[in-house]
Amino acid sequence: MKKTTDRREFIKTASAATAAASITPFAIGAPKGRRALESVTLGVVGTGGRGTGACNDSLTINDNVRLVAMGNLRADKAKQKRDQLAEVHGDKVAVEDANVFGGLEAYEAVIDHPDVDCVLLTTSPGFRPWHIERAVKAGKHVFAEKPVCLDAEGWHACQSAHDLAVKNGTGIVTGTQYRRQTNYVEAIDKINEGMIGEPMSATARYCSTGIWYRDREPGMSDAEYQLRNWMHFTWLSGDQICEQAVHNIDVMNWIFGNPERCLAMGGRFTRPEDSEMWDNMSVDYYYPGDKLISFRCRQVPGTKADVDNVIHGTEGTAYIKAINGGSRILDRKGNEIYSSRGNIGAAYRQEHKDLIDSIVAGKPIVELKQTADSSLTAAMGRESAYSGMPLTWEFMTEDSTQDTFKHGLKMTDAIESRGFATPGSYELT
Ligand SMILES: NC(=O)c1ccc[n+]([C@@H]2O[C@H](COP(=O)([O-])OP(=O)(O)OC[C@H]3O[C@@H](n4cnc5c(N)ncnc54)[C@H](O)[C@@H]3O)[C@@H](O)[C@H]2O)c1
Repeated sequence: MKKTTDRREFIKTASAATAAASITPFAIGAPKGRRALESVTLGVVGTGGRGTGACNDSLTINDNVRLVAMGNLRADKAKQKRDQLAEVHGDKVAVEDANVFGGLEAYEAVIDHPDVDCVLLTTSPGFRPWHIERAVKAGKHVFAEKPVCLDAEGWHACQSAHDLAVKNGTGIVTGTQYRRQTNYVEAIDKINEGMIGEPMSATARYCSTGIWYRDREPGMSDAEYQLRNWMHFTWLSGDQICEQAVHNIDVMNWIFGNPERCLAMGGRFTRPEDSEMWDNMSVDYYYPGDKLISFRCRQVPGTKADVDNVIHGTEGTAYIKAINGGSRILDRKGNEIYSSRGNIGAAYRQEHKDLIDSIVAGKPIVELKQTADSSLTAAMGRESAYSGMPLTWEFMTEDSTQDTFKHGLKMTDAIESRGFATPGSYELT
């Protein structure tokens, strides 16, 4: 409870500090049925690889958007990205120097900016639920990259933010692009229409080769170093199962609902010494009807990549491959009865089209809860692996008070890493 109180205090203080500086166009608690916009102005928080990619996707697919504000830990990097985007998109990029913000408070400046209708939240994941909460309270439309939470406290924040967005008539679309990728949507429609009979079990895999590691530079505080090398610190990435493999878990939840329980294991052999990440995890998730989904993720250099979902039904099997791999459905005799090609680039753009179209139509999409559930499903697998204990959905949503985020963080903070988890001695919260 204390952590929750601290979090609420932090948000309250942060909000009060910025409220004096600017007046948002949509007051907190703005009534449902707000006016539709003809065009939508964008602000982005986190201008790294995906933040810039998301801006590019929205500016490419939508005629009626303009990028007007950017926030990033380093403002100089954000300006570089602005200039690159302007080269491609011309005057759709209208970010004056004064509207490029740096540092840990940059998110407030972007969210509260009176010219911004919609914020793209694309920092490292640990910040996500708190940035979403702040944006929804400010009455802004949101695009939020996945994962949207890394633990129970973040999940609860997402539940409230979803409900408030619905109440206020603001949109939230999330970066689970496979929900908009045609070979996924079609194959899952076919499954729902009965093409493989009753889905009984599945395998979900996100096995890839290595991942980046960013060295500590001389003079960096712990906070600066961990923010830069965020993938390797669980409070920022949630480990690979949350950061990356949540895509496949989201597809399983899309088909089977939320899992009831799980038991996981895994380990680490190749990570750099100070990385908190594990190399691999293997989770048995049990869904309603005692349907078993066998999940694996792995990031080890020099190994074979395998990123797909296979759904076994009473009358056939569906193979849904990630990236551009496409989908196939076979009947029990092995005859192909459906196939389609994949196009992930189109899916990345479609999520931005759907968000902006829904805002302009005055019927904003709010899909935060489904992605919060998938994010928590991933966190449940991680916590089960770290502890070596079976866990239930009920524990995660009702009992767990886990709050991994470092609220009130300063760039100069000393942060002791908790090291990598060891089953048997890892404490569940
Ligand atoms: N949907 C997808 O397929 C997909 C693909 C790649 C990444 N992602 C997600 O996008 C997010 C970002 O990943 P990335 O690859 O762009 O990482 P990145 O390291 O390239 O960029 C992160 C950026 O966020 C900034 N940042 C971090 N904390 C901040 C804060 N508190 N305020 C302002 N700026 C902050 C950093 O300065 C950096 O520029 C992650 O959640 C990742 O999982 C999604």
